[in-house]
Amino acid sequence: MASSLDFTIPTNIKAWVYAELGNPADVLKLVSDARVPEITEDQVLVKVVAAALNIIDAKRARGFLKDNDSPPPIVPGYDVAGVVVKVGDQVKKFKVGDEVYGDINEISLVRPKQHGTLAEYTAVEERLLALKPRNLSFAEAASLPLVLETAYEGLERTHFSTGKSILVLGGTGGIGSLVIQLAKQVFGASRVAATASTGKLDLLKSLGADLAIDYTKENFEDLPEKFDVVYDAVGQSERAITGVKEGGSVVTVGGPVTPPAFKFHVTSKGSILEKLNPFLESQIIKPVLDPKGTFPFPQVLEAISHLESGRPTGKIVIYPIP
Ligand SMILES: NC(=O)c1ccc[n+]([C@@H]2O[C@H](COP(=O)([O-])OP(=O)(O)OC[C@H]3O[C@@H](n4cnc5c(N)ncnc54)[C@H](OP(=O)(O)O)[C@@H]3O)[C@@H](O)[C@H]2O)c1
Repeated sequence: MASSLDFTIPTNIKAWVYAELGNPADVLKLVSDARVPEITEDQVLVKVVAAALNIIDAKRARGFLKDNDSPPPIVPGYDVAGVVVKVGDQVKKFKVGDEVYGDINEISLVRPKQHGTLAEYTAVEERLLALKPRNLSFAEAASLPLVLETAYEGLERTHFSTGKSILVLGGTGGIGSLVIQLAKQVFGASRVAATASTGKLDLLKSLGADLAIDYTKENFEDLPEKFDVVYDAVGQSERAITGVKEGGSVVTVGGPVTPPAFKFHVTSKGSILEKLNPFLESQIIKPVLDPKGTFPFPQVLEAISHLESGRPTGKIVIYPIP
């Protein structure tokens, strides 16, 4: 049973919902009579202030997870930043009124929650959340969890450490923009190279890349230098493995895997966000939001269309909600 609270929680809420799989533009509908999710004893109820989109949201609606998903109707959305309005009996870390952020699905591809973050309220286990960095807006905080945790877990899995060099494929995407910053500022990379298209090379440099490679003009395979680690955030592991030194590691997060590259799927952990909060609060690591700006709640379909173009810069955030 949940403890009492000061916040008034409505019975019916606004949410984006699909009842059948398909093209998000066809199946995803904005409703105003969704139910507030019940919380279990280890969960909190969060009043959603901002949510970020991830490509998995669109793939999931299209049926990518259909053998391992929650049953429809589904409210999509993994990333959230908001305010705790109710806590379960076993919740220890958070209280009503806390500003939090996180990825609400612990194992990204295994039965993600039926009720996600594209709604006025969402229920989430406390272990998946952290307090929002004080200096970040809700929109900035919502942009981070899934991609920040993926960037960090991938670097850890390659045993990345001080003095190593890294090549990041897709340096201006949600994951890549954080891999560059984490590698340089948190793990102590000696050298960071990254790829993007012509108009985004200055951004690569501003994120900390020593070498910005325009993938429309040159092939990283032709570089004379090789790297201790290649982080493939594009889905090109067959090419990525040509950029690594003998004995180095190649990690990929999408597409087919060509050994010795390896792939993993992120596990959501509030503890990683807690560990990185000091770097966010001191602005050593900065969120990158798409230059189109945030998309208000009624414009989720436009936001998904931009996401599926494959060309966003940094993250697409839905704000304000509702
Ligand atoms: N395994 C996991 O746990 C996990 C977790 C999250 C995401 N993923 C997967 O990881 C991949 C990346 O996700 P994301 O959210 O970072 O993607 P994203 O933000 O949508 O990536 C968009 C960026 O990719 C860049 N890009 C596209 N083609 C490129 C190329 N050939 N070379 C260099 N850059 C290129 C684009 O830059 P330009 O405009 O310059 O082309 C754009 O800035 C997706 O496949 C996603 O499904 C996996």
